[in-house]
Amino acid sequence: MPIRTIIEPFRIKSVEPIRWTTREQRQELLRAAYYNLFLLRAEDVLIDLLTDSGTGAMSTDQWAGIMQGDESYAGARSYERFRDSVQDIFGYRHVIPTHQGRAAERILFSVMCKKGDVVPSNTHFDTTRANIEFVGAEALDLLRPEGKQPSLVHPFKGNMDVEALEQTIARVGRERIPLVMLTITNNSGGGQPVSMENAKQVSAVCRKHGIPFYFDACRFAENAYFIKLREPGYADKTPKQIAQEMFALGDGCTMSAKKDGMANIGGFLCTNDDAIAQQEKNLLILTEGYPTYGGLAGRDLEAIAVGVQEALHEDYLRYRIASTAYLGNHLAEHGVPIVQPPGGHAVYIDARAFLPHIPLDQFPGVALACELYLEGGIRSVEIGGLMFGPAAKMDLVRLAIPRRVYTQSHVDYVIEVILEVWNRREQIRGLKLTYEAPFLRHFTAQLEPVAVGTAFGS
Ligand code: F0G
Repeated sequence: MPIRTIIEPFRIKSVEPIRWTTREQRQELLRAAYYNLFLLRAEDVLIDLLTDSGTGAMSTDQWAGIMQGDESYAGARSYERFRDSVQDIFGYRHVIPTHQGRAAERILFSVMCKKGDVVPSNTHFDTTRANIEFVGAEALDLLRPEGKQPSLVHPFKGNMDVEALEQTIARVGRERIPLVMLTITNNSGGGQPVSMENAKQVSAVCRKHGIPFYFDACRFAENAYFIKLREPGYADKTPKQIAQEMFALGDGCTMSAKKDGMANIGGFLCTNDDAIAQQEKNLLILTEGYPTYGGLAGRDLEAIAVGVQEALHEDYLRYRIASTAYLGNHLAEHGVPIVQPPGGHAVYIDARAFLPHIPLDQFPGVALACELYLEGGIRSVEIGGLMFGPAAKMDLVRLAIPRRVYTQSHVDYVIEVILEVWNRREQIRGLKLTYEAPFLRHFTAQLEPVAVGTAFGS
């Protein structure tokens, strides 16, 4: 019999202690954080599943690269290594470093969009949406219907509705659509992948109308691995070949290297358009830095140069996707409603199904996230009514898995805590807002539990 257990494909050379708190302490800490887990101190969290962004562990090769960082202001060797490594996978003519993904977004949309424009996507991430709206344009989500049904199992729930894209172009006119985006994987929609077939169709529509086609490529390696596992014709291709094939369908991308760049900070913006690249570099110099470092240290560029390649290693991706599925499948086996199938970087609990007694305006997702912290010191994040307002189509609690950080026993602990909360779910109360900022309100919002007796919709 071949050995079937999938293990972490690394051993641990440096460890970081994590800290226990008591339930009483967490009760007080939650109150002091206004029931917003963003406002907790990280030290007061035992297992931090807030995000997979910038929270990964670097490899020995990345640390070695860091020691070789060339910190020259202009023309650094580290930039060349970074550019060559990115171009090897992404293939775009211009590679512009930025301090993280949203900086790439701000520059892209400032250059390409104006008031009244419309930018379709499968689903825009919250910073992407905010940056589009900030320049007065409309961020339009055109997710296929499968992607909107949490419990439905489908291999590519991140796919864009291509018919709806055609209809949108016909309705608003080509001249008001400066670009189309595809988020791989679809973070806000459950970490679900986009198929090559779908990307080809979107690309064909964009080509037909002469509209630039960009990827939000944050989790491109996980998306490539899902294609390898699930899409006919790709089983024998490497994740790198699949990623290369996908990027060849587009004209550029935004990227947060804090995800599949395996780095703790960084990002980039790519384009094949010389004139656009020039404008982008001009803006970059204004706020991020010179185009060969873009707000990063030379050592950060080295970490990304190594990281984007490591993210595509097959033994890493096999473990990555299997460990996320392990968490999701154990929860689902016990009846916990999750977005099916489990995503690449995260498992998403369907809070509306978990807490049907909490009305949507009392933030069931936030209530559940608070409860997981109270029960076991686990920090997760709501993706729902608090993040997106009343327009939110789902209320999800995301358990994002940092890359190469937690082991299987950590995951077993998380499962035990969630099942404990599941067993006493009827007792969980909703919350109400006491403070909100005008945009991206979830980061700083303050809440308090609704009074007992008003929790059940009365
Ligand atoms: N696009 C997607 C799909 C993302 O998931 C993120 C970040 C960004 C863009 C922005 O990148 O953080 O480097 O500026 N997502 C993180 C998360 C924050 O927790 O999902 P950034």
